[in-house]
Amino acid sequence: MPVTSMTVVSTSAHHETRTPTSSPLNFDEASRTCFSFKNRRRSSYCSSLVLNRLQINRKSIPLYLVCITLFVIATALGQTPPEKKTLSWKTRLVSEREPGEPLIVSGTIYQSDGKTPIPNALLYVYHTDATGVYAPKGSAQDSIRIKGWMKTNSEGKFEFRTIKPVCYPRSSAVAHIHAKIFLPNGSERWDEFLFDGDTNLRSHVYEKHKDEGIFSPIMKINHGGDGVLRCVKNIRIR
Ligand SMILES: [Fe+2]
Repeated sequence: MPVTSMTVVSTSAHHETRTPTSSPLNFDEASRTCFSFKNRRRSSYCSSLVLNRLQINRKSIPLYLVCITLFVIATALGQTPPEKKTLSWKTRLVSEREPGEPLIVSGTIYQSDGKTPIPNALLYVYHTDATGVYAPKGSAQDSIRIKGWMKTNSEGKFEFRTIKPVCYPRSSAVAHIHAKIFLPNGSERWDEFLFDGDTNLRSHVYEKHKDEGIFSPIMKINHGGDGVLRCVKNIRIR
């Protein structure tokens, strides 16, 4: 869903919650107590108290730290722009064998005047597969499978080949492509690409974007004779 004209759709993690067997920790009280201790021994006692109340075994701390570090690194890597020199304005997100309707999305990124193209902007896109999921069941939350990077050419253009995403299973959400734009001036924007004719696309969404013309997030679908769907998505940076 991971934003504004960008609507960000975030996936929510499922966390297990342990039920404490001891009384709930009063953090204000614990903090005041901890910081009032003058010596290290008492501080150590205090940290033990907190860990015990949180039911965290000291021996497990390194494991917790490793897990947290790996999660942070993996999350950062997912949206960290790769080396600019290796990027093309045109890319392919999936192989020929990927199930789903083949789709090519092309467009141009413009400055706020809607006329001046922005060369060398980075574009990161990702979306669900033909079953409506970002990653196979059981895989890490950050392991989005269909994704790719581009760098706009001298005319501000980009293009990617993929398959048409499907909305989330058992959901009334619209099918969509998430896009993050990294501008040459260092600023970043989120955008979202939608599909005209999506049965889940409500009339108020059409109404909201009716005056945006070629910059509407709702893409018209051109059913070409070669079996490949084609859409155009122009982006105006505000
Ligand atoms: Fe999404």
